[in-house]
Amino acid sequence: MIIRKFDSREELDSYAAQYFIYIIQTKPTATLGLATGSTPIGIYEKMVERYRGGEVSFAQITTFNLDEYVGLQPQNEQSYAYFMNRHLFGHIDLPDNRAFLPNGMAADLAAECSRYDAMLAAQPIDVQLLGIGHNGHIGFNEPDRTLHGGTHVVELKRETLEANARFFASMDEVPKQAITMGVGSILKARTIMLVGKGADKADIMKQALTGPITTDCPASLLQTHANVLVLLDREAGRYV
Ligand code: F6R
Repeated sequence: MIIRKFDSREELDSYAAQYFIYIIQTKPTATLGLATGSTPIGIYEKMVERYRGGEVSFAQITTFNLDEYVGLQPQNEQSYAYFMNRHLFGHIDLPDNRAFLPNGMAADLAAECSRYDAMLAAQPIDVQLLGIGHNGHIGFNEPDRTLHGGTHVVELKRETLEANARFFASMDEVPKQAITMGVGSILKARTIMLVGKGADKADIMKQALTGPITTDCPASLLQTHANVLVLLDREAGRYV
């Protein structure tokens, strides 16, 4: 595990974007695992800037997002599909048919999970970008006695619903279920880039990176992966 700390988020975002661009430049057909949430927004902005500067083309890559809410149409502004279009896909030359998210509108959610896993198996992820939840979740793999390996439907925990409520008109509108890649799928990525920003992530980052490996903190399982790059701003990296 390599841990890098940055004095500013700007520097962190530039570094992370450069990392992805280097991967794409050296392997134009790379498969990237992507995340939503506040953490990656600045990284995506930098990637878009570099694309607009003519430094990189996304035309041949494939992307898989970690998760999607159940029951939200892609056009819904709170869906992760909408988020990805707004912050990244809508600004780059990535073909629509190679940008994958779980389909939270699928009539048969179990079949959708199997379909997603089959696609992931066919196109292993070169670099998986991850944020971390305050409870240590990665993707929507919430702390529990056991964790799933593959893509599955998850009941979101109260703290996650509360954290996400800021994006919805009321707590009642926050979807209670999501489809998420499993911890097993995440750990199959060749490289994992875990990003933490802000003082509110300092405690959980310490627990995830230096605490016991436990399903109580799903991010702690990243300690078992051979190739994890952790990027932290000064506040999130305070205790590591
Ligand atoms: C998002 C995701 C989540 C977030 C996590 C942190 O696709 O999978 O695990 O990475 O909830 O969210 P932010 O970045 O908003 O603090």
